[in-house]
Amino acid sequence: MTVKAESEEIGIVGLGLMGASIVTALLISGNRVVGVAPLASDLENGPSKIRHYLEIAQHHGLTDFSPEENLARLTLTEDYALLRGCQLVMECVVENIEVKKQVYAKVEDHISTDAILTTNTSAIPNTVLKDFVKYPRRFMGMHWAEPAFTTKFLEIVCNPETDTTLAEKLYAMATGWGKEPILVRKDIRGFITNRIMYAMYREAFNLVENGYATTEDVDRACRNDGGHWMTFCGLFRYMDLTGLQAYYAVMNDLFPTLSNQTEVPQLIENIVQQGGNGITNGKGFYDYTPEEAKEWEKAYEEFAFDISKLSTKYPIDLIEKRLSKKEISESLTVKKT
Ligand SMILES: NC(=O)c1ccc[n+]([C@@H]2O[C@H](COP(=O)([O-])OP(=O)(O)OC[C@H]3O[C@@H](n4cnc5c(N)ncnc54)[C@H](O)[C@@H]3O)[C@@H](O)[C@H]2O)c1
Repeated sequence: MTVKAESEEIGIVGLGLMGASIVTALLISGNRVVGVAPLASDLENGPSKIRHYLEIAQHHGLTDFSPEENLARLTLTEDYALLRGCQLVMECVVENIEVKKQVYAKVEDHISTDAILTTNTSAIPNTVLKDFVKYPRRFMGMHWAEPAFTTKFLEIVCNPETDTTLAEKLYAMATGWGKEPILVRKDIRGFITNRIMYAMYREAFNLVENGYATTEDVDRACRNDGGHWMTFCGLFRYMDLTGLQAYYAVMNDLFPTLSNQTEVPQLIENIVQQGGNGITNGKGFYDYTPEEAKEWEKAYEEFAFDISKLSTKYPIDLIEKRLSKKEISESLTVKKT
């Protein structure tokens, strides 16, 4: 990806796992970034994480700039006052309302009234958080996914008081960073993607807990069905591509049989109660030796770059691009004859 350095200055508060990854995404798309560290440990650990991400981003061709060139556009500080020139500031601190509230007060002491303020909350409704900011009209959710600098995913979440012109401005900015943003026009618990994913998780537990299939088989089905086409197109386009009539008939029969369980499944409850946390401690739905856990982590990182390259080859406006290319080549052929 070739990006030229732009002069947009963007602030981010919180340099943990996601913060460092988002800083990287913003730098490789040419922005100037002010990263505020609310904890001293962020200043100790953040820079090496960001440098590492920039190195791998360059290695995989996501930026033409060296880590040094990208880092030249980054200011890391504990001083919130350095956010004063930012037109956009993103909060990316722990999922705790009290902490987020304190951060908003510190940020709003310094930024201009027309600057946009966003939160990377995974699950706290924007409608709840907006009560802790001075100007809810310029406040939105900006929900990133990990790794923020490889995936094109980004959800922009409005609250009932959000100014739609600012939401559109944010949408345009995110598109300029190479993202394919989703505008969540009305705040809803779980936003869009988590609602869809958790509906799938619930059915997966239902199948395993009731003995229809093993976790391995459910995982294999996901990989080779949805996993085979979902980076190419979404659910609605896929139904168009494969014929709506059959879906209509199947929905009639199948929907009444799908799980609508409201409790957390026993299978995950048991693992979590025993301290299981997946590859981080080797105990999850599968068991992992430290060596296996490391290999899974490494393979996932490699895959994230590969799938990101593939999604760039098949962008959301693929067909418009193909058709306009065809029109140009046809008009050249007509001129020749
Ligand atoms: N990790 C993910 O995959 C993911 C994905 C989407 C959204 N999010 C959301 O992003 C936000 C940050 O998550 P993360 O994974 O980067 O967490 P993290 O634990 O890696 O980092 C949290 C950061 O919060 C700040 N912080 C911690 N305690 C604080 C305090 N007392 N006062 C002020 N700041 C404090 C620090 O900057 C710290 O680095 C959360 O709201 C999370 O729900 C995370």
